[in-house]
Amino acid sequence: MKTTAELATAQADFWNGKGGQMWLAAYDRIQKSLAGYSESVLAAAAAQPGEKVLDVGCGTGTTTGRLAAAVGPKGHVLGVDISEALIGVARGQKLVNATFAVSDATTYPFEAASFDLVFSRFGVMFFADPVVAFENLRRAMKPSGRLVFVCWRTPQENPWGSVPMRAAAPHLPPMERPGPEDPGQYAFGDRARVERILKAAGFGVPTFARLDEMNFMGKDVPEVIDNLGRFGPLARLFGEATPEQVAKARQAIAEALAPHAAADGVKLPGACWLVSAAQH
Ligand SMILES: C[S@@+](CC[C@H](N)C(=O)[O-])C[C@H]1O[C@@H](n2cnc3c(N)ncnc32)[C@H](O)[C@@H]1O
Repeated sequence: MKTTAELATAQADFWNGKGGQMWLAAYDRIQKSLAGYSESVLAAAAAQPGEKVLDVGCGTGTTTGRLAAAVGPKGHVLGVDISEALIGVARGQKLVNATFAVSDATTYPFEAASFDLVFSRFGVMFFADPVVAFENLRRAMKPSGRLVFVCWRTPQENPWGSVPMRAAAPHLPPMERPGPEDPGQYAFGDRARVERILKAAGFGVPTFARLDEMNFMGKDVPEVIDNLGRFGPLARLFGEATPEQVAKARQAIAEALAPHAAADGVKLPGACWLVSAAQH
């Protein structure tokens, strides 16, 4: 089992290295497939003119830009992300009422009780020690503040991820399976775990809403397979496999995806939690 420090280092290395590069290479498609969840979490967060907002794990700053527009010239958004490369892209937007910091949100010295809204789109599942991280975020929130984030539910509820993986896995080298408490894409799938983390971090009882969408994965099956090779667990496995293994895996994925292809692209069901919580 990895220590907390090892888990944190692995995440920082991933998002500053291959993970960040792959995220950027696949970003247009990712942005399109996240659009529905994105609108739902931004609507639930309802950033208001003049508010001070924290965008946690802001990546390239797409949601930071939307939040900055909502809070207007009297408000301010701070985007924090562990990846230098992704923050570089975020800074390129030259937002006048937003600033960015490259840091682990677990340890960043936020001004205490300063944010009206702590927000995240898929940026809070990668903390090595989630309780310590959420304690830090809670301390940064005003007593009247709100926490609003979106995260994936379990792999079983997300066929867009599990269908290609199940098809490809028998042909590829074995994947290192994350432990149930390890950081990762599905680390917040278990609602009871998220409740435990937020309670231990001092938040009030959170509310959970189910967001169920059809995830756009690409315009046709070959494009989806290329996309899967760009970002995500399959991209990592393809990198470790022989060309023969990759060819067999691609064929198996093509067969599994064929029933999901239509004129408007390949879509499979996705499932998220929209989580909201107050200080107490
Ligand atoms: C799935 S991406 C989401 C990015 C962005 N929120 C979006 O929706 O486009 C997860 C992001 O969390 C960031 N991240 C991971 N661990 C972090 C940490 N401990 N502190 C701050 N950011 C972190 C990654 O660098 C990455 O940009």
